[in-house]
Amino acid sequence: MKRVGVLTSGGDAPGMNAAIRAVVRSAINKGMEVVGIERGYEGLIDEDFIPLTKSSVGDILHRGGTMLKTARSERFLSFFGQDEAIKNIKKYTLDALVTIGGDGTFRGAADLWRSGIPVIGIPCTIDNDMGFTDYTIGFDTAVNTVLDAISKIRDTASAHDRTTVIEVMGRHCGDIASYAGVTGGAEYILIPEIETDVDQLCAKIKEGKARGKSHSIILKAEGVDISTEQLTKLIEEKTGLESRMVVLGYLQRGGSPTAHDRMLASLMGSYAVDLIYNDIGGRAIGSVRNEIIDMPIEETIDISREADLEMLELIDALSK
Ligand code: F6P
Repeated sequence: MKRVGVLTSGGDAPGMNAAIRAVVRSAINKGMEVVGIERGYEGLIDEDFIPLTKSSVGDILHRGGTMLKTARSERFLSFFGQDEAIKNIKKYTLDALVTIGGDGTFRGAADLWRSGIPVIGIPCTIDNDMGFTDYTIGFDTAVNTVLDAISKIRDTASAHDRTTVIEVMGRHCGDIASYAGVTGGAEYILIPEIETDVDQLCAKIKEGKARGKSHSIILKAEGVDISTEQLTKLIEEKTGLESRMVVLGYLQRGGSPTAHDRMLASLMGSYAVDLIYNDIGGRAIGSVRNEIIDMPIEETIDISREADLEMLELIDALSK
């Protein structure tokens, strides 16, 4: 009987639980045993292994966070840490490992694959910064959380005729800002992939005011090279309009996953198990043009997400 390990690693993202559930139930349906590893690669080093049954993953599909806990493991970056992890994988006779997480998780998984461990990676991060897949699990929920925040903040911005800068997460990737910018009707977005032009931004705010706009919503990705506080001050100085800022922070990481994220997690989890069942390892699973695909995990590491310039043009055009 095949024995499969599953872990979640890096920042938590809504849909991690849905992915664990899909892996566990699909594997058991195919006659495999499943072992959960707690706190990602940390648990792999510390032997925090727990047997998982179909009922262990009951009632988690709709929950944010991860029932297996997660961590960013410094120790796993070292030769010693990886060696311990590999010893434990062998000690527990795991035939394959499913790693659920973002780019750091995939880098660790690729190292394990190079050391001969059959690994399958499922992309799960709110950042959507993994270029080999159109979507990562958790991104859609995060964008919807930002949308919810925009509607509430807009009420106050409109009531007070203010400009509000909303800082969103995404590390070096502007996708949360871009998608929430289009769907939330932001006046302007700032993303790390495009050089910041504060004068252009202020001109846009003033133009809007001249046309009768009562308020403006500016979405700024956290990776942009100016602090949100500094930007808000500059906007107030240069436009003469009252300005405020909100940092959404960890609000974007929690919450019940959307239907889109649950679907992605369910399809990818079950696809991962199909690969393992067919003795295939070293693959990353993605979603490309609405199709679930797999490709060599090592090749995915260096594929970064390109900014979608058409989306920026759309935000500009639709907010005029
Ligand atoms: O990768 C997800 C993410 O939330 C990023 O958007 C953010 O930059 C980072 O994690 C924050 O990490 P931490 O949980 O270590 O504060």
